[in-house]
Amino acid sequence: METTQFVLASRPYGMPSAANFRVEKINLEELKDNEVLLKSWYISVDPYMRGRMNDTRSYVEAFQVNQPINGSIVAKVIESRSNKFHKDDVVAGTLPWSVYSVQNAENLRKIDVSKIPPYYYLGILGMPGITAYIGMIDICKPSKGETVVVSGAAGAVGLVAGQIAKIRGARVIGIAGSDEKCKLLKDKFGFAETINYKISKSIRKDLAKVCPEGVNAYFDNVGGEITEGVAANLAFHARIALCGQISQYNNTKLPAGNLIMSWILTKSVTLQGFIVRSYTDRFDEALTCLTQWLNEGNLKYTETIIDGFEKLPDAFLGLFSGKNQGKMIVEAD
Ligand SMILES: NC(=O)c1ccc[n+]([C@@H]2O[C@H](COP(=O)([O-])OP(=O)(O)OC[C@H]3O[C@@H](n4cnc5c(N)ncnc54)[C@H](OP(=O)(O)O)[C@@H]3O)[C@@H](O)[C@H]2O)c1
Repeated sequence: METTQFVLASRPYGMPSAANFRVEKINLEELKDNEVLLKSWYISVDPYMRGRMNDTRSYVEAFQVNQPINGSIVAKVIESRSNKFHKDDVVAGTLPWSVYSVQNAENLRKIDVSKIPPYYYLGILGMPGITAYIGMIDICKPSKGETVVVSGAAGAVGLVAGQIAKIRGARVIGIAGSDEKCKLLKDKFGFAETINYKISKSIRKDLAKVCPEGVNAYFDNVGGEITEGVAANLAFHARIALCGQISQYNNTKLPAGNLIMSWILTKSVTLQGFIVRSYTDRFDEALTCLTQWLNEGNLKYTETIIDGFEKLPDAFLGLFSGKNQGKMIVEAD
């Protein structure tokens, strides 16, 4: 049977473009024992994939030129030669960006979509939600009355991180890239204050106005100038969860020096970088809490769902210009 897939056509230098991706038609092999034929349904595009486009060693393997891109996908079982899965089951796994694929059943987990939208497993109840939980609960450790700042606040991770801080009784300030996103953060997600970094003349001064007592914890998704502005406002003994540095992912040269370190020193700040896949022993706990908060109505979520398998590169590239509110997902079927 024939399918369509995206491969990495070339490695980007700086900002990636559609030319770094290529669509191909291939023929799939017949199913063997313990294999299933899948049809991709919802496909996640994530900022960490930018790092995988480089030919560098990291915590996750690089994509290979002329080989399929892969990532988190929710798919329907079309045909099964596995005892584990039946036709029409819905599964999640790390799968190729392909309309159809043949997979070993061992690499898949069945998901329940009877009460939970399938794409939640790519966002709030997937890797981004768990990342927000670990970074906020373990590293930021917000307590009642504290002030917490979240950058990339209107994205997949940031939305959840901010709401967890609020659930813990903190006052939450979100930094995001449009007035529309800032309004959403306040109106729907309970952020106390917001800063649109694209129109702010000084993040440092704008933040000082809304955090007169200083920032007790900072969940950093973006790095760069935004983080410098937050660092200048840190309170004594603040905590920083260093989750992402999206403002730096397409840089061809990293800025010299480390401008936040003097603040870390003089304010006795604890700064911890973390990669969610190091916390697999905490995933069950994180998912239990996230599900409970969702069911109680204390945690809300949103997605930007782009229709059409062929839009995968555009959706991915859109992450770097803020095209998404909440989780960016492509609906392939
Ligand atoms: N440590 C981990 O294990 C882990 C796990 C998952 C994600 N992450 C990291 O967490 C961060 C957020 O990931 P996500 O999946 O939730 O993505 P996301 O926030 O849903 O999407 C990316 C957002 O980043 C913002 N952005 C893009 N370029 C920017 C720039 N130059 N300066 C400031 N903001 C910029 C855009 O929003 P605006 O409109 O606000 O600019 C965009 O919507 C990323 O850095 C990602 O790599 C880390």
